[in-house]
Amino acid sequence: MSQLKSVNDLNVKGRRVLVRVDFNVPMDKGAVTDDTRVRASLPTLRHLVQSGARLILISHLGRPKGAPNPKYTLAPVAQHLSQILKTPVAFAPDCVGPAAEKAAKDLKDGEILLLENLRFHAEEEKNDSAFAKALAVLGDFFVQDAFGAVHRAHASTAGLPKLLPSAAGFLLQKELDYLGRIKDRPAKPFVAIVGGAKVSDKIEVLDKLLDKVDTLVIGGAMAYTFLLAKNVLVGNSLVEKDKIDLAKTLMEKAQRLNINLLLPRDHTAVDAIDKPETARETADQAIPSGLIGVDVGTKTIQGLTAPISSAKTIFWNGPMGIFEVDRYARGTREVAKLAADAAEKGATVVVGGGDSVAAVQASGLADKISHISTGGGASLEFLEGKDLPGVSALA
Ligand code: 3PG
Ligand code: MG
Repeated sequence: MSQLKSVNDLNVKGRRVLVRVDFNVPMDKGAVTDDTRVRASLPTLRHLVQSGARLILISHLGRPKGAPNPKYTLAPVAQHLSQILKTPVAFAPDCVGPAAEKAAKDLKDGEILLLENLRFHAEEEKNDSAFAKALAVLGDFFVQDAFGAVHRAHASTAGLPKLLPSAAGFLLQKELDYLGRIKDRPAKPFVAIVGGAKVSDKIEVLDKLLDKVDTLVIGGAMAYTFLLAKNVLVGNSLVEKDKIDLAKTLMEKAQRLNINLLLPRDHTAVDAIDKPETARETADQAIPSGLIGVDVGTKTIQGLTAPISSAKTIFWNGPMGIFEVDRYARGTREVAKLAADAAEKGATVVVGGGDSVAAVQASGLADKISHISTGGGASLEFLEGKDLPGVSALA
């Protein structure tokens, strides 16, 4: 990946640089509620400002389906960025056409402009070449720093780099560097922790990870499908019946490769998800009839302590339970603590995926983690060995 041209290699003084960022951030009532992705883009933005470039930022926000929709305006993100950088950030109400062109022309060296949501135009997601050209006329250079969106073959990811001299931003480079270590050269022992609700979302990554890990920890609701595949009763817990055979195949592969595959040894279970007051721990792996598993239990956490503590590489994607409910968050929090401790002892710890990232942030341990990926889908597709159109287009 190091063969990608870096933003460092561009001579940008006085030139207009189109920077594709992923400012697809959670918002509530017109305010940014988690600015991780905005902050992650700052090294590239600051470098360009200091180099005297004229910055034109482009991004998508949400899925407005190809039409303008005030619910998905990027205007509040321009304000937010301006506050963090303590410098004005101009905003144009369209990403192409006269408004965008005038705003881009008005820029002076070191100034920043954010354009309105790319996905207000259906052509963005179609990778339409005329739309890519309408974006390209705005700048002299293109910098790709939207790691969270490089698994999409859109005009701003796959199209633009073909039209302008292009380079990778620092965030994209950092993501590819850390995830590349996980994918190609993990220091051993390597422990992967995969959770979340559905096996179906993670099949390919589980299969690929089995070729590399020493230990694979499975948590979250997807663990119930694995348990059912071993004929362990799971009560009324969420399962994907049509994925039982696949879970069996993955467990057989683990056995064949002598991989330590860890399923929950016990659980926190409830009568109903909205009745946290009914939460209790099960005696063992089985979930009694009528109960619903919502988190891993104490014995499971105890069993994870040794493998996670002695790991040299850890990749974590997906929570251990329904961590949004405080009473069901313990397993996820404990895993965050174990991973942070391992990182302090020198392990490379990479966390990817919105939910596990939120869990790490909520536990206040984010600073201790080696790398928190800004791309959920993108990081999984990269680890699955898939081509990332937004990266290949830069090469
Ligand atoms: C994300 O948050 O997953 C990225 O910003 C990509 O967005 P998308 O899944 O809507 O393409
Ligand atoms: Mg997504």
